[in-house]
Amino acid sequence: MPAKLIMPAKAKVPKNYNLLRGFKDILPAEQRYWDFIQQRVYKLADDYGFSRLETPILESAALFIRSVGSDSDIVSKEMYTFLDQGNDKVALRPEGTAGVVRSYIEHGFLNQPQPVKAFYFGPFFRHDRPQAGRQRQFWQFGFEVLGDSNPVLDAQLIHISYKFYAELNLPVQVEVNSIGCPNCRPAYLKELTTILKKHRKNLCPDCQLRLTKNPLRVLDCKNKDCQAVLTDLPQTVDFLCEDCKKHFVSVLEYLDELEVNYNLNPRIVRGLDYYTKTAWEILETGRDGQQDSLGGGGRYDELVNELGGRPTPAVGFACGVERAISRFKNHDIAVKQPVRPELYVAQLGLEARKKCLRLYEQLLQRDYLVAESFSKDSLKDQLEAANKLGVKYTLMIGQKELVDDTVLIRDMESGIQEVVDFKKILDYLPKILSNRVSNSRTDK
Ligand code: HAM
Repeated sequence: MPAKLIMPAKAKVPKNYNLLRGFKDILPAEQRYWDFIQQRVYKLADDYGFSRLETPILESAALFIRSVGSDSDIVSKEMYTFLDQGNDKVALRPEGTAGVVRSYIEHGFLNQPQPVKAFYFGPFFRHDRPQAGRQRQFWQFGFEVLGDSNPVLDAQLIHISYKFYAELNLPVQVEVNSIGCPNCRPAYLKELTTILKKHRKNLCPDCQLRLTKNPLRVLDCKNKDCQAVLTDLPQTVDFLCEDCKKHFVSVLEYLDELEVNYNLNPRIVRGLDYYTKTAWEILETGRDGQQDSLGGGGRYDELVNELGGRPTPAVGFACGVERAISRFKNHDIAVKQPVRPELYVAQLGLEARKKCLRLYEQLLQRDYLVAESFSKDSLKDQLEAANKLGVKYTLMIGQKELVDDTVLIRDMESGIQEVVDFKKILDYLPKILSNRVSNSRTDK
C-alpha cells in the first residue's frame, strides 16, 4: 500500500499549463467518493440486471446533432466539435444515450432477446458557463433499457434513479411529466406557440428564438420574465393521445406501488430532442425551483429508428456524479474511509532494503494491509511516516538484523520492540494481529 498522499499546498502553475476552465482534477482525497458512487452504481446494476456498456468519448458530431437535436442548447451552444486530422467532424460526447443507441444498432443488439439493459459511468463534455454544479467536463452514470415499451420499465428506471439518493436518506423527489409522442405533440405545440407568440415581447432573447425552433424548451427556461409568462400555459398532459395517457397513468401507478416520492410537473420537458412520453428529473427536496437537477431521463421511442435501426422503444436516465458528491458532502453522507495499513516495513541500508522488498511481497501475498517508503534512507523518516499512517507495527531490518537473519518488530503505540526470526515472521504476525483491521469500515 503506498504511503498516504498528503495534499500539496496550492502553488502557481505557469498560466499556459493551468487546468482549463470548467475542468477539474479528481485528487486522491476525493477518490473515496468516486469509489463509493461507482460501487453503488454496480450494486444497482447487479440488482436490476444491467450490464456495463462503455462507448467512446469521441464520436461523429452528426450522431449527437441527429439525436439530441441541432436546436438544443447542448448541440447548438455547448458541444465540443472539431475537425480531426482526417477532416472528419467529430465531437466530445455531451451525453451518453446517443452512443448507446449507436452501439445497440451497430452491434446487432436488435436481434438479441429484448429488452437490452445497459449502464455506463464516465466523463462527458459541455462547453457551458462554469459555475457551482456545472463543469465543462463532468461525469455521469446512466442506465438505459432498449427494446421494450412497457411502462413498468419507465417506473423501474425512475425508481432506480430515485433510490440511488433516497436509500442514503438524501431528501429527493422525482419531478415527472409526459411530453407525448409524434401523434399528439404537434397539437400541443401548435396551441403553445399560438399563446407564446402573444407574449413574445416578454420572453428572453433565447426563448424568442426557441419560439420558432423548439417552443417546448421555453417551458423550462429559468429566466424570471419567461417564468412569469409560463404560469398560465397549457400543459402537455392535457393533449396526450389515448396511448400516451394510458402509458403515463400506468407509470404513475407503478411509482405509487414502489413508494417513490414524485410530483407531477408540467414544466419537465427536458433539453434533449429525443424524448417521447415519460420525462423526469431528480431534485433535492426543499431547495428553490432554480436548482440544478441531480439526474434526468425519459423515454425515447423514436431514437433507434431515427439513427437507422428499426422502430424500437427505449427509456433511460443519467445522473451527474459531481452533483451527487456535493450533496453527499452537504448532507454528511458516510462514505468509506481509505483503508489504513496495519504494518509498515522499514529498512536501513542497501542489503536490508533488498530483503525488505522480498518481505513486503510476502506480506502482500498473505493479504496484510502494509505500507513502506523504500526510497527513504533515514530510519527516522520512515518511522515518522509509519506513525502518520497509524500502523500498529513496524517491521525493521537494519545491519544487525541482516547478520542475525531476524526482524525487529516495534509496537507503534507502546514503543516496545521484539526480535523475531526472519523465517518465523509470517507465522508470528497472526498472533500479534489477532484484531485485524477490517477492510470494509464505513465510518466517516
Ligand atoms: P441531462 O439532463 O442532460 O440528461 O444530464 C443528466 C445529468 O447530468 C444532470 O441531471 C446533471 O446531474 C448532470 N449534468 C449535466 N450537465 C452537467 C454539467 N455541465 N455539469 C455537471 N453535471 C451535469 C442526459 O444527459 C440524458 N442523456 C439522460 C438520459 C439517459 N436520458 C435517457 N437516457
